[in-house]
Amino acid sequence: MSKHLTVDDQKRAAAEAALEYVKPNMRLGLGTGSTAEHFVRALAPRVKAGLKVTTVATSERTAALARELGIAVGNLDDVRHLDMTVDGADEIGPNLVLIKGGGGALLREKIVAAASDRMIVIADAAKVVDTLGRFPLPVEIVPFAHLVTMERVADAAARAGCGQNLMRLRGGEAHPFKTDSGNYIADCSADAIPDPERLARMLEGIPGVVDHGLFLGLATAALVGTANGVSVIEPPRRE
Ligand code: 5RP
Repeated sequence: MSKHLTVDDQKRAAAEAALEYVKPNMRLGLGTGSTAEHFVRALAPRVKAGLKVTTVATSERTAALARELGIAVGNLDDVRHLDMTVDGADEIGPNLVLIKGGGGALLREKIVAAASDRMIVIADAAKVVDTLGRFPLPVEIVPFAHLVTMERVADAAARAGCGQNLMRLRGGEAHPFKTDSGNYIADCSADAIPDPERLARMLEGIPGVVDHGLFLGLATAALVGTANGVSVIEPPRRE
C-alpha cells in the first residue's frame, strides 16, 4: 500500500536518493531551492564522517548553508569541471527539458550544470508535466531598460506560440528582487510553452536578457519523490 507523503517528504526522499550517486572525490555542484537544501543537509553527515568531495554552489544561499553544515565550498573558476550537479526544478517536461529559476538562481544554476558531466534533478511528483509552462518562466534581465526588455520577452513568447502571456517583475517595481549577479527576474506566465527550443532561441536573441529558466539538454536524470517511492526518469536513449 502506498503511504501518504507530503510534498516536503517527496522532496526529501528524492534528495536522499541522490546521495547514492555521490562517490568519493567527486566534484559536485550544489543546487538551489528547498529540495537542493534537503540534499545539502543529507550530504553534510557523510562529509562529517569523512567523505571527500569538492563542491561548488549555485547561489550564495546554498553556499552559506553548506558552509554552516561543515561542507567546504569552492569556486568554479578553480575547480573548472564538475562530475555531477544535483539541483531541483520548477517543472520537468518531456525529454527532461526543465523550467528552473523559481528561487532566482537560474544563471548560476545553468553555468554550473553546463560545467558538469551529469545533472541529477531532484523533485516532488507535482513537478513532472506533459507540457511546460504552468509555472511562470523566469527570465533574468539586466536592470537597464527592463520594461523595454520585458515587452520584447512578452512579444517573443507570443510569437513562440505560448498564447496569452503576462510579464511580472519579481518583487515589483518598488523593490525588485535582485539575483546574486545583480540582475532582475521577469516571470513570464503563459498558457503553455509548446516549443521550448524555439522560445529559448528567441529569448537568447533579445538584448538585455541575461538568461532564461529553460534548461535544454542539461539534465541527465530526474529522481522524483512519489507516494510509491522515488522514480527515476532518464532521457530516451539515442539509437
Ligand atoms: C532555484 C530553482 C529551484 O531548483 C526550483 O525553484 C525548485 O525549488 P524547490 O526545490 O524549492 O521546489 O530553480 O532557482
